[in-house]
Amino acid sequence: MLGLARRTQGASVARSLSHAQPRRTVSFGFQNVPEEEKQNLVKNVFDSVASNYDLMNDATSFGVHRLWKDNFVDSLKPGRKGPMKCIDVAGGTGDIALRILDYAREKYADRETTVDVADINGEMLKEGYKRFKKTMYHNTPQVAFHEANAQEMSQFPDNTYDLYTIAFGIRNCTSIPDVLKEAHRILKPGGVFACLEFSRVNNPILSTLYDQYSFTMIPLLGTLLSGDRDAYQYLVESIRRFPPQPEFAKMIRDAGFTTGEFVDGGAWTDYWGGIATVHKGVKL
Ligand SMILES: C[S@@+](CC[C@H](N)C(=O)[O-])C[C@H]1O[C@@H](n2cnc3c(N)ncnc32)[C@H](O)[C@@H]1O
Repeated sequence: MLGLARRTQGASVARSLSHAQPRRTVSFGFQNVPEEEKQNLVKNVFDSVASNYDLMNDATSFGVHRLWKDNFVDSLKPGRKGPMKCIDVAGGTGDIALRILDYAREKYADRETTVDVADINGEMLKEGYKRFKKTMYHNTPQVAFHEANAQEMSQFPDNTYDLYTIAFGIRNCTSIPDVLKEAHRILKPGGVFACLEFSRVNNPILSTLYDQYSFTMIPLLGTLLSGDRDAYQYLVESIRRFPPQPEFAKMIRDAGFTTGEFVDGGAWTDYWGGIATVHKGVKL
């Protein structure tokens, strides 16, 4: 009996193996990893960099990320048409959220715009919370922090937000179409999706210089300032695996958003020749 059971079990394992689908893989930097593992690997990266994240951003970009983020928020003009309900996804330490609230207050005397900061990583959110404690927004309804996965945001109801921002976050997500689908669901009709992300540099000279800088200096700075070369190596590699501007714009359209024409200045706006790019879409 036992032998038969063993043989039957063996046969069924063999059958299920012969029908087994090859495991789906996704990029994690330059490696391909099983789809279900990427989220944890990304979490480890951001656990490791959280306490140094703001310092490292300044060091690796010579502070340029601040200009890009200022331009990004300026292009959105939060508060211009009255208070807005915003969500900043993959919001990390709250860089974009703080800019949105400051912009609305300083330009339009608006103290009613709100931002929900959502991120999958509790350590990054903790840094953001600490930072907001030093601001006038702490303990007000203007800001709230949520641990949430951009790909599955069921804690946020449909048609809720006027503005959805995601900065330097979407390339870390396992499924970009799932992120876009959720963004579309939680935005109100007329709501704006806005993404700031590293993108494709089209000028060959700039591209070569940028590659040399990013593949040598950024991991080196990561080692010197945070003791973690691998995390910064991943961050650089993940930039190169992100879809180029027209491909990402198409994904935004496929998710149901209206975009401009597929050119720089239309569906997207390149900053610094495409080192970073802003993509926008409107939910109709
Ligand atoms: C490079 S940081 C950007 C943080 C911030 N937006 C900024 O511009 O400084 C990327 C962030 O994406 C978050 N993230 C990665 N995968 C995510 C996911 N599936 N859902 C939500 N956040 C995610 C990470 O935890 C990290 O805080």
